[in-house]
Amino acid sequence: MTLIDARNMPRHVGLIMDGNGRWASQRNEPRSEGHRAGSRSVRRIVRLARRIGIEALTLYAFSQQNWARPDDEVTALMVLLQEYLLSERVEILGNGIRLAAVGELAELPASVREVLEPLCRDSQPNDRMTLTLALSYGGQEEIAAAARGLAKDYAEGRIQLEDIDASALGKRIPSQRVGQPDLIIRTGGETRLSNFLLYGSAYAELFFSERLWPEFSEEDFFTAIASYQGRQRRFGQLVT
Ligand code: IPE
Ligand code: IPE
Ligand code: MG
Repeated sequence: MTLIDARNMPRHVGLIMDGNGRWASQRNEPRSEGHRAGSRSVRRIVRLARRIGIEALTLYAFSQQNWARPDDEVTALMVLLQEYLLSERVEILGNGIRLAAVGELAELPASVREVLEPLCRDSQPNDRMTLTLALSYGGQEEIAAAARGLAKDYAEGRIQLEDIDASALGKRIPSQRVGQPDLIIRTGGETRLSNFLLYGSAYAELFFSERLWPEFSEEDFFTAIASYQGRQRRFGQLVT
């Protein structure tokens, strides 16, 4: 196990879980099998994150843009999501995990919302770790919605023009309720954010792994944290 420093843990980790489809293709299996294997990785990494004291974990599970994939793939992903929520209910409630969701949740099928909403509500008092699922999520769309909210408040006289600054915008960004991500990990070898946590990622440390998400292991997670711990965060300032 890679050695990590318990005093310098990232507080909030964002995870872009990419590479399920390629994992399946390599095995001549349908893409849905890659997503199924990916959901096993989710269980493994959520358990680990909670065990090592990560306060907030945000998982990019489905983007706004992913709706444009073929219907059968979208359906398979929604079924897997529902199965994940049903099967992890006991684990989440019993292990002090607070579940939250960000994104255009109204666009999700009722079958998902009917399990997601009660689990978010019932796990609300938990405080060991906040697990946020980014579902039907887009970073640009999230910023646009926040801007719309500010514009409405301005139009209706609740705020002044000068009140609109980065901090006021940030307060309206749902994915930032748990604070800015300290570390964003992307699996699958691509080195881009693909519309994930655009507002909050301003000073996030980025870690890109070649590993495809279904094979991303506990060791790989430790490697990412060790890399984070080797960095010097400056936030634009000079560090002497
Ligand atoms: C990530 O894996 C999961 C989702 C986007 C839902 P992909 O399905 O994007 O897998 P690749 O990138 O095609 O391998
Ligand atoms: C990002 O992966 C979205 C999720 C992991 C949910 P994509 O596979 O959708 O991103 P692109 O298309 O490679 O940018
Ligand atoms: Mg992908």
